Amino acid sequence: MKYYLTTPIYYVNAAPHIGHAYTTIVADLYKRFKTMQGYHAVLTTGSDEHGVNVERSAERAGKSTLEFTDAVSAEFQRQWQMLGLQIDHFQRTTSPQHARVVNDLFKRCRENGYVYKGSYTGQYCIFDNLYVNDAKPGDPCPDCGRPTETITEENFFFKLSAFQDDLLKLYEREPDFIQPETRRNEVISFVKGGLTDLSVTRSNIKWGIPVDGEAPHVFYVWFDALSTYMSAVAGEKVDGEDLWPADLHLIGKEIVRFHAIYWPAFLMAAGLPLPKRIFAHGWLMFENDKMSKSRGNIVRSEPIQKVMGADALRYFLLREVVFGQDGSFSYDALIGRYNSDLANGLGNLASRTLTMINQYREGVIPAGGEGGAIAPLAAQTIQTAQTAYDKFEFSKCLETIWGLISAVDKFIVERAPWKLARSSEADAPAQLDDTLYTAAEALRVVTALLYPVLPESTRKIWSQLGMPEPIESVRFESLAWGGLQAGQKIGEIAGVFPRIDDPKKAIDKMRELEAEVTAAQLVLMGKKPEPVVEGPAKIAIDDFLKVDLRVGLVLTAQPVKKSDKLMHLTVDLGEGTPRTIVAGIAEAYGPADLIGRKVVIVANLQPRKLKGIESNGMIVAASVNDGKPVLAAFLEDIPVGARLK
Ligand code: MSP
Repeated sequence: MKYYLTTPIYYVNAAPHIGHAYTTIVADLYKRFKTMQGYHAVLTTGSDEHGVNVERSAERAGKSTLEFTDAVSAEFQRQWQMLGLQIDHFQRTTSPQHARVVNDLFKRCRENGYVYKGSYTGQYCIFDNLYVNDAKPGDPCPDCGRPTETITEENFFFKLSAFQDDLLKLYEREPDFIQPETRRNEVISFVKGGLTDLSVTRSNIKWGIPVDGEAPHVFYVWFDALSTYMSAVAGEKVDGEDLWPADLHLIGKEIVRFHAIYWPAFLMAAGLPLPKRIFAHGWLMFENDKMSKSRGNIVRSEPIQKVMGADALRYFLLREVVFGQDGSFSYDALIGRYNSDLANGLGNLASRTLTMINQYREGVIPAGGEGGAIAPLAAQTIQTAQTAYDKFEFSKCLETIWGLISAVDKFIVERAPWKLARSSEADAPAQLDDTLYTAAEALRVVTALLYPVLPESTRKIWSQLGMPEPIESVRFESLAWGGLQAGQKIGEIAGVFPRIDDPKKAIDKMRELEAEVTAAQLVLMGKKPEPVVEGPAKIAIDDFLKVDLRVGLVLTAQPVKKSDKLMHLTVDLGEGTPRTIVAGIAEAYGPADLIGRKVVIVANLQPRKLKGIESNGMIVAASVNDGKPVLAAFLEDIPVGARLK
């Protein structure tokens, strides 16, 4: 039976970082897990190479667009190789076969009456490739906060509005179509709010897939990008079964709308089968902020892979972050987890078990008994782990497996094989055999269960156990207790997770490599390392005096719905009536941090609407490299309404 899964295809205007690696690692894990369940699993990832934004990045890099996308796309492929990921298809949106599939999808939608010609004037965010409804020129993009651009053009429109009922029925009929539940609820309420038709072609840009027979139209990037999931496996069958539809689209939470609304609507319109499930995970943060190019807080995989190995990164991401929720990365936490769970936990169990078999039984697995309390615990762990993997509960899965590791550790201490080896009691040799067999068999079960998460290290432990078949061929159904053959000769023992005794040294090394990788990626992107920014042009004092800066007191604060960034504030400026101000600070400050706080406000800005709320002023904050805003504040007490000069 086939199992087809995908990651998003990544934009080539940023070099890969561990945020991209996160989704791709999980996809690789899930593929291995499904293979262990007996499926023929196929994984697609790729690169999203069209759009104005990419065109502009190439221009800035002084390269032709294709030259630029070739280079960045190759860098993504290199990353996945470096991390040892099992990718079956790396699909580029610039491939000719992909263009055919996109045109075919469009043709089907059109023939079925869901496409019409119209014209669009409005705001567009070139970074998120998002049409922003109800926005005025200069308004920020609701997703990334960058200014939107006004575009006017003749377009082909897709009748998204016709699919409201069918989509709602789909979510009802297939409760697992969008997971986790929070994302499902968001999508349902968005769709219930009504859908407007969507422009799916662009006539004033060149860098896109041409619409057959409709020059100068090219496809809107999301119509193009989503089709990758199909084009990568067009016509491909496994055991006589078509690979399409996908069984799983793994994505980050910011692109749920495109996947859970647009994509099934396009497919319904075309009369094609729908994907079975979309799972949207949370964001990987670094120092409490989403890792991203614009925030300048990026961590790359390569330094971690070089210093600690790819499995250390995989383990950390899957154990530390609850899949589906946001999680934080830090080098300290990475090393902490590695030392406590991998070096001291799994690594220690493997080396002590195998060393004892060498020492007391000349490297041959002895015949054992029933394994006491360990055997039923192992059986239960196999069940729980399989269910947890299945439900994307990776952290819980690992916790369960570590429960078994601790139980075996305890069992070894209680049985004290080192005493049994010296004992002259008649049943001591049999007890020692039983102890060693139980420990080794538990190690076999643990190693097999961990293969999806730790493919490289479990392969090593597997061969040290002397297992005859490769770990890749292990299936859940053959995992039951007793599978380890007595008489099997173990392999050569070598430490799998050497302890990191000097975390500072390891972190320094990773930071040093990080700087090198960053510099290499800047070259790849055709950018020079950030120049020292010269200050903006000098202004006369009169110009400065035009800005009315006032001290305000925040009276109320609440996050703006459907926006990660915006906070709706009422601020007392000593004018009698408090003002409404909408500020892009919600990712850095919660309501409790703001209420009762004195802030600096630009009081004489023209009002403007953000997310439908009129903002009468702007809050003053500092930010480094476009990073998290930090509010301006005073050390001394200062009356409300005071002017800053
Ligand atoms: N090209 C679109 C996707 C098209 S899919 C048909 C796109 N590309 S992207 O390069 O911006 O990648 C977004 C995806 O990368 C996220 O959905 C997520 O899978 C992954 N991540 C990028 N940064 C991330 C974090 N900081 N944290 C977690 N995942 C991150 O959107």
